[in-house]
Amino acid sequence: MAKRIGIITAGGDSPGLNAAIRGVGKAALDSDMEVIGFRDGFRGLAENLKIKLDKRALAGILTIGGTILGTGRDKPHRMEVDGQMVDMTETIVRNYQKEKLDALVCIGGGGTHKNALRLVEKGLNIVTLPKTIDNDVANTDATIGFDTALGIATEAIDRLHSTAHSHHRIIIAEVMGHRAGWLTLGAGIAGGADVILIPEIPYDVSAIASAIRLRSKHGTNFSIVAVAEGAMSKDDAAAFATAAKRKENAKTKTEKQRAKTELTVLTARHSGNTLRLSKQLEELTHLEARVSILGYVQRGGTPSAADRLLATRLGTMAVELINDKVFGVMVAARGDMTKPIPIAEVAGRLKQVPTGHPWIESARRVGTSLGD
Ligand code: F6P
Repeated sequence: MAKRIGIITAGGDSPGLNAAIRGVGKAALDSDMEVIGFRDGFRGLAENLKIKLDKRALAGILTIGGTILGTGRDKPHRMEVDGQMVDMTETIVRNYQKEKLDALVCIGGGGTHKNALRLVEKGLNIVTLPKTIDNDVANTDATIGFDTALGIATEAIDRLHSTAHSHHRIIIAEVMGHRAGWLTLGAGIAGGADVILIPEIPYDVSAIASAIRLRSKHGTNFSIVAVAEGAMSKDDAAAFATAAKRKENAKTKTEKQRAKTELTVLTARHSGNTLRLSKQLEELTHLEARVSILGYVQRGGTPSAADRLLATRLGTMAVELINDKVFGVMVAARGDMTKPIPIAEVAGRLKQVPTGHPWIESARRVGTSLGD
């Protein structure tokens, strides 16, 4: 039987992290384990910054947003220490051993799974839980935080409707999601956006303008556009794809560096894309356009009931797996059930919206433009 386990939360925060810590913690205490939380993601493990998670520490956190442990985007193998990038993997392994941990629960998204896999390969007993408002972790139906963010983004779109309608404007709501459009698509459908733009479907500005002009022609002089941070025009998507291919096929270090620089330049140019889109749509439709960047509001505050439930289900299952000595796995949500999936089958994989996904089909059927 495991005696002592550790928990970290890593990557961007998301609503439901505390519910997950509580789920793991309470189930572990119930199995007579001692529970230690490490602060600020993998940094807490490297610097041995710990908090004892006893019954008292776990009380009253179910409904609170953020994470009582703090989080961070540090990677074990490239961590800034005194201004230098240092490989702290061995230090983390030593601290794990020094703390006499029998297992470590890592709660995080894509980056966390890559980092967790490295530690699994170093022999640590790890179980992960998928969390991110982006819902883009592979091999799980859902991630902790998505449902709450979906509700927040939908409510924002609802509120933007009345002001867009009153001023006969186009309002563009920028929703989080650099590489996956789940949040934008879900909130766009639920909020009745007229145009939904996601990274998986590169857009054509003239097609968006046509859809908006058609609404005007039918007497509706306002439109709501829900755009994901990572949505891009067909031209930009082609430029990114070419640079990525160049990087992949690079034969020399110089070629690789050149392609990398090209990608960095393209990424920098892409920030500000939503404002550019707004200007383009004003020119093409002769309607006034405004941008509302929903930003970090989407990640903050009280988790929804669905996220609390998901976090509790996944968290308690993590402890069952630890009791059964099943390690190196992520607890995935599969319908009403949970399933352990090897972390190796999650790390480095991204769950994007398939272009034939039923949500996309439904959006099209209710007359929403996907900008293509
Ligand atoms: O957690 C995922 C995410 O919310 C993305 O959608 C967003 O682009 C990113 O995090 C930004 O997070 P940060 O600014 O904290 O790195």
